[in-house]
Amino acid sequence: MTPVWTYDRPPRQGLGLMRLRSDPDSPGPDSRDAVALVDAALESGITLLDTAEMYGNEELVGRAIASRRDEVTLCSKFGIRWGDSGRFDDWSVHADAATVVSSCEGSLRRLGVETIDLYYLHQRSEETPIEETVTAMADLVTAGKIRAVGLSNVTVEDVRRAHAVHPVLAVQEEWSLVSRDVEEMLPTLGELGITLVAHSPTGHGVLHRGGATPLGAALADVALVRGASAGQVALAWVHEQGRRRGQPVVPLPGTTSVGHLRDNAAAADLRLSDHELARLDRAALSPRER
Ligand SMILES: NC(=O)c1ccc[n+]([C@@H]2O[C@H](COP(=O)([O-])OP(=O)(O)OC[C@H]3O[C@@H](n4cnc5c(N)ncnc54)[C@H](OP(=O)(O)O)[C@@H]3O)[C@@H](O)[C@H]2O)c1
Repeated sequence: MTPVWTYDRPPRQGLGLMRLRSDPDSPGPDSRDAVALVDAALESGITLLDTAEMYGNEELVGRAIASRRDEVTLCSKFGIRWGDSGRFDDWSVHADAATVVSSCEGSLRRLGVETIDLYYLHQRSEETPIEETVTAMADLVTAGKIRAVGLSNVTVEDVRRAHAVHPVLAVQEEWSLVSRDVEEMLPTLGELGITLVAHSPTGHGVLHRGGATPLGAALADVALVRGASAGQVALAWVHEQGRRRGQPVVPLPGTTSVGHLRDNAAAADLRLSDHELARLDRAALSPRER
């Protein structure tokens, strides 16, 4: 089977679809139309599309990619279930072997595909040993239902234990100027040859808006000089982290807008100087940002 990607040739950037909802009432260049968004992504060279069982939009994503399935690297996740209350903090983790199988069947059906290219455990479980989860995922690879195993919201120890059962292609963790815990995990990922998919690279949208903080000011200054937006500079910062560490890092910005998608794709070409990176790092670490 051809690999989804290799460690030395990861995708440049992905598209996070977490916030995608059907909205036929807003046509035009800034449309929230899912088909237009997928088309724009592929035209911009972005083929890595990321959803999850938990996002509740797999059917919409499936319809949006249906005519271009072969051009897309399709990622989904399992393991988090919403409770009945409708509250955002009402969810639980299910990562036992039976859930792995039934969740995958459900995602395949909703997405309308025969195979998911990269399937992630969405959240580490306190109850199920990760070996049980990953063994079940490895069986899905053997059965041709998924092509590669990924992990999200896990510890370094989880990564090592999982990788000993079956090769892990990617770990998906939050990484941006305002969320840097994942940096502790990078040496392990480098040692094991695992790609980091960096979700929420603009701090869930906060860094697009700039703002009256030291980091907002630094982003605005660099953006002005570069003829870019604050959000593009924040995204370029994540791209630079991978380049400068010699490690594959795939930023995963999310958008529902064709216009924003194009702006985000352009940020992958923006190179930041040592001086600009130091300025952004200093501002991000200043006491007023923490
Ligand atoms: N594994 C996990 O636990 C986990 C957790 C969270 C997220 N994720 C993944 O990461 C992806 C991104 O996460 P995220 O959406 O929280 O964070 P993000 O990419 O940092 O920010 C997205 C927000 O920024 C806005 N935005 C995007 N591009 C913009 C632009 N060029 N100009 C102005 N605003 C812009 C978006 O609104 P518009 O739609 O209007 O553009 C949205 O509100 C998700 O879709 C999901 O795939 C994974």
